[in-house]
Amino acid sequence: MPNYLIGVTGGIACYKTITLCRLLMKAGHDVRVIMTDNACKFVTPLTFETITRNRAYVDEFDAGLAPDIIEHIDLANWADEFVIAPATANSMAKIANGIADNLLTSTVLVYKKPIVFSPAMNVDMYANVATQTNLKRLAEMGHQIIEPGVGEMACQAEGKGRMAEPEEIFQMLCGDMPLEGVNILVTAGPTVEPIDPVRYISNRSSGKMGVAIAKKAMAMGANVKVVAGPVSVSLEGLNCVSVQTADEMLAAVKADLSKVNILIMAAAVADYKVSEYSDKKIKKNSENMSIELEKNPDILKTIASDKDVKQVFVGFAAESNDVRENALKKLDAKNLDFIVANDISREDIGFETDQNEVSIYFSDGTTTESGKIEKSKVAELILSNALKLYKAKNGTV
Ligand SMILES: Cc1cc2nc3c(=O)[nH]c(=O)nc-3n(C[C@H](O)[C@H](O)[C@H](O)COP(=O)(O)O)c2cc1C
Repeated sequence: MPNYLIGVTGGIACYKTITLCRLLMKAGHDVRVIMTDNACKFVTPLTFETITRNRAYVDEFDAGLAPDIIEHIDLANWADEFVIAPATANSMAKIANGIADNLLTSTVLVYKKPIVFSPAMNVDMYANVATQTNLKRLAEMGHQIIEPGVGEMACQAEGKGRMAEPEEIFQMLCGDMPLEGVNILVTAGPTVEPIDPVRYISNRSSGKMGVAIAKKAMAMGANVKVVAGPVSVSLEGLNCVSVQTADEMLAAVKADLSKVNILIMAAAVADYKVSEYSDKKIKKNSENMSIELEKNPDILKTIASDKDVKQVFVGFAAESNDVRENALKKLDAKNLDFIVANDISREDIGFETDQNEVSIYFSDGTTTESGKIEKSKVAELILSNALKLYKAKNGTV
């Protein structure tokens, strides 16, 4: 079991590193933490000491240390793996330039193997040419950089700079990565079709299933992009394009289609939109009213003819009756490799719940039943089947 040395530097994301340490401990690793002085302003050494059952090292010149041990040398020699998370712009700048002015940066200079950096910072700090130059330099020095995620940050800015999720880092360090190098596009949530400035047509969908698939795929090593309607779950840590309407979702899917290996259409796309959008709020002048609707593009049907033989397309069928029959029709009409069907007449599964029970119908005529399980487990089942087909199509089995 490798020993893990974790460097913690002064950013808001310090709290995520507590979870990373817990995951490593639970997996049976010996974990030691070095904190910068500034990291101690966000989280106390005591928290890491309690989690790791080891001393958290901060001061390079601590008078309380054993005189026969020189900590930066001892820690570097002890560590089999060295991870710096969160990695601040400041500490990365120092390390990229060989500066050794605290226990962490001194230990880095003694450590002989590549270090894993998980940068975390405000979007402008991350985009700054100095930070980008330092990241490039660290990569050239042979270190591994875990790309930060895109999303809302603690400073309320939106963009790239969020520290990768601890589960994702743990998976990268310790897990097997069956989807490494595979590009997966997942659609999630409902679409919203405006009627007037205040009203719209939509579907009951939280986006939980699509997001669970995206997160699981990321943890299994895939390059994941999510095209999401207005979901009611967090998209934290995901590479995401936000859309509103079916037309926007279609355009976003089409834009990336040629790069996609596995497409998973988990979104609940509205079937209809209004024929004529009213840019003024419609008044309630009469007892009855009718709005003319027209069909939205069927995203999977539209792109079916562009499907490459090496690509895997997965669809969903949320049905309230004749589940099997309706799912099989869609499977065929949309040129899918398999379709994931669920019965939405049941209150205990499907929309807005944490559990689901699905039947998977494959294009070769076979079927798999999931039983009632967590959406994350359904995600695993879908991804493992998609991977099997992807490997078969690409000659990697
Ligand atoms: C509230 C707050 C949050 C901060 N968050 C980050 C951050 O996420 N990433 C970063 O690079 N710097 C962040 N900083 C700035 C660093 O703390 C600062 O650059 C510090 O010198 C880093 O020291 P260290 O690299 O020795 O830990 C933050 C500062 C404050 C006050």
